[in-house]
Amino acid sequence: MNAGGTPVSAGVPASAEVPVSAGVPVSASVSAQAPGLGGEALRIEGLRKSFGDHLVLDGIDLVVAEHEVVCLIGASGSGKSTLLRCVNLLEPIDSGRIVVQGAEITASGVDVDRIRRSIGIVFQAYNLFPHMSVIRNITLAPVKVLRLPKAEAEARAEELLRRFGLLDKRDAVPDRLSGGQQQRVAIVRALAMRPSILLLDEITSALDPVLVAEVLSVIRELAESGMTMVLATHEMGFARDIANRVAFLEGGRIIEEGPPGQIFSAPRDERTRRFLDRVIEAGRL
Ligand SMILES: Nc1ncnc2c1ncn2[C@@H]1O[C@H](COP(=O)(O)OP(=O)(O)O)[C@@H](O)[C@H]1O
Ligand SMILES: [Mg+2]
Repeated sequence: MNAGGTPVSAGVPASAEVPVSAGVPVSASVSAQAPGLGGEALRIEGLRKSFGDHLVLDGIDLVVAEHEVVCLIGASGSGKSTLLRCVNLLEPIDSGRIVVQGAEITASGVDVDRIRRSIGIVFQAYNLFPHMSVIRNITLAPVKVLRLPKAEAEARAEELLRRFGLLDKRDAVPDRLSGGQQQRVAIVRALAMRPSILLLDEITSALDPVLVAEVLSVIRELAESGMTMVLATHEMGFARDIANRVAFLEGGRIIEEGPPGQIFSAPRDERTRRFLDRVIEAGRL
């Protein structure tokens, strides 16, 4: 189900640079408040989506500010992946609207490919091309889709690899890398398209616990540098630590959303409480 993102749609930017230090608090707690948050990066209104007669998203409303990190939590089947896939136009929606940086992407007649390029998405299964080197995996879409000259695409890729401690893997094939390294390459590949927003779907759930940390540290660095991100995650501790805002989904609805301190310590809704109790029982918080 998560295998949909071909590398070429792996995310591109419409806009300028990967926002390095775009005026966001670069402190331990990224989850500070408004200062640093910019205009509206993403607006979802009344989003509904069914598979056959199974209503999977039942009226989702969510606004994400530029430089904001929003974590989606909720039991398996609550609709997190479908929501992210809808935002990347990998799934057609039934009703509602999605607006990215002021432009409605769900309007008829929009250039779907261009929009997909501005929204990076990384899945649980990293979907790297196994027969291509790391550098080729990363430069393929920038060269083919953005039509960057190869040298420029490689320079950009190398800069990202260096930033995330992967430069020595430049010429390796994915098979020779650990799961954590592969997932970091998948993140770099998405970033190479300079997306305006990055969607991350349970990107640590296929990894051994020891490898989870290295991937989470990449996400933390991106958050600190101001990347706008929406993450579906099972890593509650990480969500609490990194998110500006946490949204709890159940049955295709956002039941409750708010700052992590409130959602995790003082949830208002009984359903959120029940979910968190189960998470605690399972030793995941
Ligand atoms: N392509 C699909 N076809 C039919 N049902 C699907 C499809 N994708 C997801 N679903 C269903 O939609 C519901 C929400 O799934 P999903 O978005 O993957 O939830 P989550 O990511 O929170 O686990 C589940 O009941 C799932 O079985
Ligand atoms: Mg999922």
